[in-house]
Amino acid sequence: MSQQMNQKKTVKKLRIDKILSHMGYGTRSEIKKAVKNGYVTVNGKRIKDSGMQVDPYKDLIEIDGETVKYREFIYLMLHKPPGVISATEDVREKTVIDLLDPEYALFQPFPVGRLDKDTEGLLILTNDGQLSHNLLSPKKHVPKTYEAVVSGEMGEKEIHAFQQGVTLDDGYTTKPAVLEIISVDPSEEGTTSRVLVTIHEGKFHQVKRMFEAVQSKVLYLKRISMGALQLDPLLPIGSFRELTEEELNILTETEITK
Ligand code: URA
Repeated sequence: MSQQMNQKKTVKKLRIDKILSHMGYGTRSEIKKAVKNGYVTVNGKRIKDSGMQVDPYKDLIEIDGETVKYREFIYLMLHKPPGVISATEDVREKTVIDLLDPEYALFQPFPVGRLDKDTEGLLILTNDGQLSHNLLSPKKHVPKTYEAVVSGEMGEKEIHAFQQGVTLDDGYTTKPAVLEIISVDPSEEGTTSRVLVTIHEGKFHQVKRMFEAVQSKVLYLKRISMGALQLDPLLPIGSFRELTEEELNILTETEITK
């Protein structure tokens, strides 16, 4: 996939030093020096002013002969492992940003919503605030599906309760959710159930609290989709990759239509 393809283009003209530092070619003062020393060309012409305004998508920018492929936003799919927190920085805990290569961290992405420290699965990371806002807006009701292993035997009663909405410990009654039972597994330590649950909102610890409301406990939780975007089953846990253009379209569609 080309870097340029996976983009929403919102930028017109920007200072060349801003473009080059955004793309990881150094600090503003290092870039100023590179310009002064004649390493930077725009449309084949050596430039002198590191404050020059250029169109990063239309003008051909080269630094030391290398073409600069500008992009403003990045969109990543992370298969979040347990044990890392959904934050951009933390003094004590490892964050999802610590799992990225520096070339991606440079764009200062942030997670779109949160998964608990012990939850695994699909987490989108981006620096596109508008997309994030639209996906998380309570007005859009973007569905999120989780696979879970929970204590006890789930059945028709719980399916119905989730459909009706359950009342959480703080008195809030959830919007209708879909509970599907994959299997009920008796064992010596007690029966557990493997389920899929789809919710359309994102309250704090929502899935865990919904199961508590039906006298169960979440033992394992993994998000497998957000809107129409599925976690790539081939993406190893702890790994990330850029969204394909098709996946980005799926997400953008989600934000428009939901
Ligand atoms: N619901 C939870 O309880 N935890 C998560 O991480 C996500 C949804």
